[in-house]
Amino acid sequence: MTEENLGEVVRAVHRRYPTGVSVVTAASPEGKPYGLAVNSFSSVSLDPPLILFAVNVTSSSYPWLFSADHVAVNLLSTSQTAVVRRFAQSGGDKFADIEWTTGQTGSPLIAGCTGRFELAVRYKIPAYTHTVFIGEVVCAEYTDDPALIYLGGKFFDSSDLRSTDA
Ligand SMILES: Cc1cc2nc3c(=O)[nH]c(=O)nc-3n(C[C@H](O)[C@H](O)[C@H](O)COP(=O)(O)O)c2cc1C
Repeated sequence: MTEENLGEVVRAVHRRYPTGVSVVTAASPEGKPYGLAVNSFSSVSLDPPLILFAVNVTSSSYPWLFSADHVAVNLLSTSQTAVVRRFAQSGGDKFADIEWTTGQTGSPLIAGCTGRFELAVRYKIPAYTHTVFIGEVVCAEYTDDPALIYLGGKFFDSSDLRSTDA
């Protein structure tokens, strides 16, 4: 690795690491839903239950997320590859063709997910191109639908994994 190709190697390392895929959502004061696909979602702590995700400040959803007191993290299931592709496109009415409801905190909740968190936003930390949001979970729910996995730019079914446990 040289200094010149560090960025390339960083990308290659990320491509080797599997993550889930989520759609982070927020509502405007008028109740219009906004959101984008993220794989930067992670648990921070359980007590209190804190979660983080990072959003590019140039995203069209960013101003709505930044001004929201509450946001939702919709953890996508294997049946939602079309949903992630839609929410990975910038702008437009992403909610027009999908089933969604409004959660207890006012955040948009997408139907058919493997799990969902509604968060009270606690911290917004600037990090060059991105802002790291840390939220406290105020509502959580899950289903039996298996999670969608993202690895090397492709999507996989988490119910089809081979265990390496003895
Ligand atoms: C699997 C996957 C993971 C992504 N993760 C992130 C992320 O963590 N943060 C981010 O800002 N964008 C992420 N993106 C890119 C955004 O979804 C994409 O830029 C989207 O067009 C933003 O929409 P918006 O401009 O309408 O807000 C990801 C895209 C994909 C396909």
